[in-house]
Amino acid sequence: MQKSRIIEISHLTKVFQGGKKRVEALEDISLEINKGEFVSIIGASGCGKSTLLRIIGGLDKEYKGKVLFENKPITAPSRQRGFIFQDIRLLPWLTVEDNIKFSLPRTTSDINDIVSKKLEIVNLKGFEKAYPKQLSGGMAQRVAIARALANQPKVLLLDEPFGALDAITKIKLQEEMLRIWESEKITMILVTHDIDEAVYLGNRVVVMSNRPGRIQKIHDIKLPNPRSRISHEFNIQKEIIYKEFFGDIEVPFSYSI
Ligand SMILES: Nc1ncnc2c1ncn2[C@@H]1O[C@H](COP(=O)(O)OP(=O)(O)O)[C@@H](O)[C@H]1O
Ligand SMILES: [Mg+2]
Repeated sequence: MQKSRIIEISHLTKVFQGGKKRVEALEDISLEINKGEFVSIIGASGCGKSTLLRIIGGLDKEYKGKVLFENKPITAPSRQRGFIFQDIRLLPWLTVEDNIKFSLPRTTSDINDIVSKKLEIVNLKGFEKAYPKQLSGGMAQRVAIARALANQPKVLLLDEPFGALDAITKIKLQEEMLRIWESEKITMILVTHDIDEAVYLGNRVVVMSNRPGRIQKIHDIKLPNPRSRISHEFNIQKEIIYKEFFGDIEVPFSYSI
C-alpha cells in the first residue's frame, strides 16, 4: 500500500524575539510523517519540542519554512489535530462526561454515543458523572485522552502527556496509548524526555539536539508491538539513543533526560 504523507515540515526555523532577547528555538527542521505513524520526538528540556508541536497544532504561526498538513499550509488550530498536554486542563466544575461534551461542537450529532464510546476506549465506563477532583492523575489523563479522541482527530499531538504521573500509572497509560493507536488509526506525534517511552511507543524516534533544536538523528524502531521492555533488542535500542545523548559513558537504563 502506498504510504500517504500527513505532515510535512521543511526547513522550519523559529526564533522568539522579545525586545533585546532573542531565542533561537528551532533551526532547519525537516521531517515528513506518514498517515498512521507513531513518531516519538525526544530531546532535553528547552530544545524546542513544545514549540514544534505548537506549530504543527497551528497555535504558533510565526516561523520560517514550510509546515503542511495533508499538503496544505497549517494556518490555524483544527479539530483534526488534537492536543494532549502534561497538565490536564479539565474544568473542575464539570463532570467527566460534560468535560468531554464541552470540547465538542454544539451541533455534534450522537454526542452521548460518542462520549460513551470514547470513555469505554480509555477504560473509564462508570465514571461519567464523576468530577475531576474525584479522579486520580492517571484517570484524569484518560479523560483528557477521551476528550481528544471525541473530536475524531487525524493527528494527536502529545506533549509529555505522562510526565507528571507515577511510574506504574505511566506504563499502564503507555500500553493503553498503543492499543488506542492500533484501534483508532490516528497518527501520533509524541514529545517526551523519556527514552524508554520514546522507544516503547514510537515506530520512529526523532532525537533533537540542544538549543537551537535541530534534528540530530532519526531512528526506525522495527521491534514488533507490543514491545517487551526487558528484551535485549529493546534495551539495545535504548542504549544507542542514550549514547547519542551522553557519549559512551555508562548510564543506567532507567535514566531520563
Ligand atoms: N513564548 C516564548 N517566548 C520566548 N521564548 C520562548 C517562548 N516559548 C518558548 N521559548 C523558549 O524557546 C526554547 C524552546 O522552548 P520549548 O519549545 O518549550 O522547549 P521544550 O518543550 O523542548 O522544553 C526555550 O529556550 C524557551 O525558553
Ligand atoms: Mg516542552
